[in-house]
Amino acid sequence: MKSRIAVLGTGRMGSALASAFLAQGHPVTVWNRTAARAQPLEAKGARVAASVEEAVAAAELVIGNVNDYATCAALLEPAPVARALRGKLFVQLTTGSPQQAREGAAWAQSHGISYLAGAIMATPDFIGQPGCTLLYAGSPQLFEAHKAALLALGDNTLFVGTDPGHAGVLDAALLMVLWGSAFGTWQAAAICEAEGFALDAFSSSLVATMPVIQASLVDAIERIPARRFKGDETTMATVATCHASVRLIHQISQQHGIHTGLTAALDKIFSRAVAAGHLDGDLAAVYTGMRD
Ligand SMILES: NC(=O)c1ccc[n+]([C@@H]2O[C@H](COP(=O)([O-])OP(=O)(O)OC[C@H]3O[C@@H](n4cnc5c(N)ncnc54)[C@H](OP(=O)(O)O)[C@@H]3O)[C@@H](O)[C@H]2O)c1
Repeated sequence: MKSRIAVLGTGRMGSALASAFLAQGHPVTVWNRTAARAQPLEAKGARVAASVEEAVAAAELVIGNVNDYATCAALLEPAPVARALRGKLFVQLTTGSPQQAREGAAWAQSHGISYLAGAIMATPDFIGQPGCTLLYAGSPQLFEAHKAALLALGDNTLFVGTDPGHAGVLDAALLMVLWGSAFGTWQAAAICEAEGFALDAFSSSLVATMPVIQASLVDAIERIPARRFKGDETTMATVATCHASVRLIHQISQQHGIHTGLTAALDKIFSRAVAAGHLDGDLAAVYTGMRD
């Protein structure tokens, strides 16, 4: 028997989530503040509820996916909705902080509602596709009991810990890597444009260089727990070498009037690591500039 599912919020992501459940044969009820945005799902077989309470009442597994946690809390807190949720599983797929996830779990527990905090590591077009990653935290028993249904959203469905905040931690960590890379990419593209270098050639070289970048990042992470920051036989580049590279990029950007906020910040963090005595250390020693 396929679980009956309700999806609260049918924006870009919520619509993809509801569609993926429908594609796997789940009976799906959807609710959205702006009803017109839920209508296309009706054609795919979803029932459109007139209220959050009606949607929750129709399901045994309820997914939340709105803009933020405060909005979601305001939808769930009215007494009739909280009552309709009692004894059911609520899966929070709205993006929030680890602390918000813990507070959400505590609220659910105090109302007799089962709760998993989740995070979606994908854009809507990846939902339901092979390799799509979703993270869940909270009760492992609840996760296992509902995993078959959750797999509809992506086959890389991972349980990341009993602390309900931990899906949000990993979400923030991976997104930080994305933002660091994205802003680096935009500064890089600006340098290429200013120097008259073709962006398609930049793009293909970037893809070719990814394995080198990945190996360096993974090595840096592995060195952190033991604070293995001294240059050693596996060190590929020292703090001094990498700091000089950042300063060079900063200068090139300055010459072209490109925003240097990013490279200025990197220079500061490098300088803190150097001041702490890590000039000849492994690149991973820059971590000491991030945390005291
Ligand atoms: N898009 C992505 O690639 C992606 C990836 C990972 C995670 N997420 C997360 O998924 C969630 C939804 O993102 P999205 O991309 O689907 O955004 P979106 O297309 O802008 O949809 C936002 C949703 O929130 C609802 N909403 C906003 N304010 C509301 C309010 N005051 N009361 C009730 N509902 C309200 C919207 O309803 P209306 O239609 O009525 O405005 C809509 O259903 C976010 O937490 C986001 O971080 C998104």
